[in-house]
Amino acid sequence: MKLLLLGPPGAGKGTQAKLLMDKLKIPQISTGDILREAIKKTTPLGKKAKEFMDRGALVPDNIMVDLINERLKNQDVKDGYILDGFPRTIQQAEELGNIANLEHVIQLKVPDKDLINRLSGRRTCEKCGEAFHVELNRPKRDGVCDKCNGKLMQRADDNVDVIKKRLEAYHLQTDPLVGYYQKRKKVIEIDGTGNPKEIFRSILRSINQQADS
Ligand code: AP5
Repeated sequence: MKLLLLGPPGAGKGTQAKLLMDKLKIPQISTGDILREAIKKTTPLGKKAKEFMDRGALVPDNIMVDLINERLKNQDVKDGYILDGFPRTIQQAEELGNIANLEHVIQLKVPDKDLINRLSGRRTCEKCGEAFHVELNRPKRDGVCDKCNGKLMQRADDNVDVIKKRLEAYHLQTDPLVGYYQKRKKVIEIDGTGNPKEIFRSILRSINQQADS
């Protein structure tokens, strides 16, 4: 199964991707995670991407398309995958359409006011990438990941000024993808507010219904 999770920064794409990955036994492909790893290793890709990510702007399409083309050559995607963060522009969607046929596009809908709170309070495990929140989803021990005991960090782009820029970029450049995939009858709208496990169950139900219809 080839799935895309579409939604603004903080909509819960990463949270839901991890639940879906465990359930469906297919990998999550998070372009944000790939870029952050490249930044950590100070590779040429990382150095280039950092310039854009630090100010909440999208990394140029040609860089992202090359990155995803490479990633989709790996053996682990042969039974499908969950795309988290790609495509983010019409051009990226067109390029992806040349190499893959998505079955479901899950649109996670969350109001902007909730997103700012979710992102500014997010803490991410530096080892396994699990996301927590200082109020909404507290780890059992402050600063420590429940899953792997890794250290919890705040992402460099999770400060209010950059979050606002990321939301602007989303509305301007990524929102049009909803219409793009609606025309192709792929979109499943999901209310992304409320309990993450409930949201997960609602995604699974909708996927099954769309597959049966
Ligand atoms: P990326 O890493 O993709 O970030 P993003 O899209 O901004 O999304 P986030 O990871 O911030 O949020 P999420 O939706 O995964 O939410 P999460 O589940 O963590 O991209 C970062 C940057 O990389 C971009 O700005 C861009 O520069 C670049 N980039 C990446 N891909 C690109 C591309 N294709 N083209 C160009 N540039 C690209 O949840 C957030 C918080 O909310 C957590 O604390 C979580 O615990 C909490 N939470 C989750 N669900 C709920 C819930 N139901 N209720 C309450 N709280 C919840």
